Amino acid sequence: MLGQAVFAAGLVGAVVLTASREGAGAGAVLLVFTAGSRLAEYVNSTVTQTQFYRSIWLDVSRRLAWLEDFAAAERARADRPVPERLDRGIRLDRVSFSYPGGERPVLDDITLDLPAGQVVAVVGENGAGKSSLVKLLCRYYAPTSGRILVDGTDLASIAPADWRTRVSGAFQDFFRFEYPVRQSVGAGDLPRIDDAEAVETALARAGADDLVSGLPHGLDTQLGAAWENGVDLSHGQWQKIALARGFARDTPLLLVLDEPTSALDAEREHELFERYAQAAREARHDGSGRITLLVSHRFSTLKMADLIVVLDGARLVEQGTHAELMARRGRYHELYSIQASSYRADVSS
Ligand SMILES: Nc1ncnc2c1ncn2[C@@H]1O[C@H](COP(=O)(O)OP(=O)(O)OP(=O)(O)O)[C@@H](O)[C@H]1O
Ligand SMILES: [Mg+2]
Repeated sequence: MLGQAVFAAGLVGAVVLTASREGAGAGAVLLVFTAGSRLAEYVNSTVTQTQFYRSIWLDVSRRLAWLEDFAAAERARADRPVPERLDRGIRLDRVSFSYPGGERPVLDDITLDLPAGQVVAVVGENGAGKSSLVKLLCRYYAPTSGRILVDGTDLASIAPADWRTRVSGAFQDFFRFEYPVRQSVGAGDLPRIDDAEAVETALARAGADDLVSGLPHGLDTQLGAAWENGVDLSHGQWQKIALARGFARDTPLLLVLDEPTSALDAEREHELFERYAQAAREARHDGSGRITLLVSHRFSTLKMADLIVVLDGARLVEQGTHAELMARRGRYHELYSIQASSYRADVSS
């Protein structure tokens, strides 16, 4: 305010001084007046922008300080090591969850056993809570109430960073890491980010080896059209890279595949899921007790799971094998039948 008053006084002074000078015409006065007004606009917009950036900076600093305190408190609480292997499995014990700021629970009083060594499928309509369940298991969020027990140890007492060294996965929403293929896949297991052999194994697990052999510089091909000599991929190909990244770790305790193949056709997804289930069965002998969690809307690809869990409007409504759930003629039977008949209609039309 004071600044503006001083500026206005200065401008009036300049106009008066110019007008009082001998030989100064109306043009000179007008020029001084216009230049002064323009200068005032620049000064005003600079002040506004500075205030804007200052408020952002303060806001970001406050959030960062909160995050650091939160992380420190979490670290202090997390004093248990991540287990070497799973003997019994993971148990959700009366778990409810609402997103921060959300009123409604997106998971409501879920009690569920994910047995060690098994392939577990989660099904349910859009918004049923499947991905939210996955996020809790990855420890991206903590339950609002109830506990997740890993072989009896509360997941909240295991440091998130340690837990995630033993969790692998590919998700519905994936990120396009515009690095050379090697690092874009290797980022799934940071200590081995440049390890060609590990990356090739991951690509083979994801069925993406043919994709790389078609690229101009193989593993060293830069991804992303914005980069020099960068190659852009189709949506499905990017998803395969993300899938391979999800397979980069050799011995995860939990492997989560949350609709990681939505960009592929049903037949290809079926083939891949069969392969994961086979790998999971073979992993039963490696002693890690790995749990493989599959989420998909394509029921036919999930039939082979050892356990199928049905979520409906935030609640767990049924669980069992495909045969058990079909015999029950409940929610699973209903969803499965709707999809099977629409698929038949598609095929016959
Ligand atoms: N980050 C978030 N913040 C607030 N609410 C969210 C968030 N993510 C999901 N939700 C809400 O939580 C509910 C469950 O969503 P979730 O993503 O778990 O469903 P889903 O079963 O995976 O669905 P889909 O089959 O569409 O993937 C939905 O009502 C959704 O709107
Ligand atoms: Mg989802």
